[in-house]
Amino acid sequence: MIVLDKRLKEIAFATGKGSVMADIGSDHGFLSLFLLQNKQAEKIYVCDISEKSLEKAQKLFSSCNEQAIFVISDGFKQLSCKKIDVAIIAGMGGIEIGKIVTNIPKEMHVEKIVCQPMRNVLELKHRMIELGYKICEDTYAQDKQRFYEIITFKKGANCLSELEIEFGKENIEILPQSFVEFLKKEEKRFKKVASGSEFARIKIEKIREILRRKNE
Ligand SMILES: C[S@@+](CC[C@H](N)C(=O)[O-])C[C@H]1O[C@@H](n2cnc3c(N)ncnc32)[C@H](O)[C@@H]1O
Repeated sequence: MIVLDKRLKEIAFATGKGSVMADIGSDHGFLSLFLLQNKQAEKIYVCDISEKSLEKAQKLFSSCNEQAIFVISDGFKQLSCKKIDVAIIAGMGGIEIGKIVTNIPKEMHVEKIVCQPMRNVLELKHRMIELGYKICEDTYAQDKQRFYEIITFKKGANCLSELEIEFGKENIEILPQSFVEFLKKEEKRFKKVASGSEFARIKIEKIREILRRKNE
């Protein structure tokens, strides 16, 4: 069984189970292979815009070959299937992920989308809401000193407040340790620029408000 790093492990956990999955921007193919080996997926479209990346993934798949379909594709555009249970779009910028979701072909139904943006996370969340998605889950994976936000979307109306969209409803309510660590790191980061930036000052205020709840 392939061993994943903490980030990919958390993404695999958020992915859950599904008969048909698509790993968009699969690159090395580690996640796709894990999902098959772990019996979370019955069939997976391993997709990348780069031919070289896809070749890398194909080499990795000595087992589970018949359950993987390798496709050179810009997002979902070149996929032939009409229904996908879970799609994963990880390790790209939030703006790029937003464009990929915007361009899902009209005749294709994607039940659940798990995103792990490397930057522009809030922009992605707002774009997804504009596109008619709701946030179902919002978690943080910590690997060494880095934090990665993993967000699960499904079609539906948003009923979260602005603060809940930004930080995650359950994170604010439950305050998991990884989330608290993330907030503390963010507070430090924004403090460095706070004197010159209204944006940073507002961020710090929001973070402190959430952290205060922990101590109440
Ligand atoms: C940094 S890798 C992330 C790999 C893997 N998903 C992960 O999280 O470890 C980003 C991959 O996305 C691919 N990519 C970028 N834009 C894409 C698009 N529009 N459609 C499909 N793949 C894309 C790149 O070629 C690259 O292989």
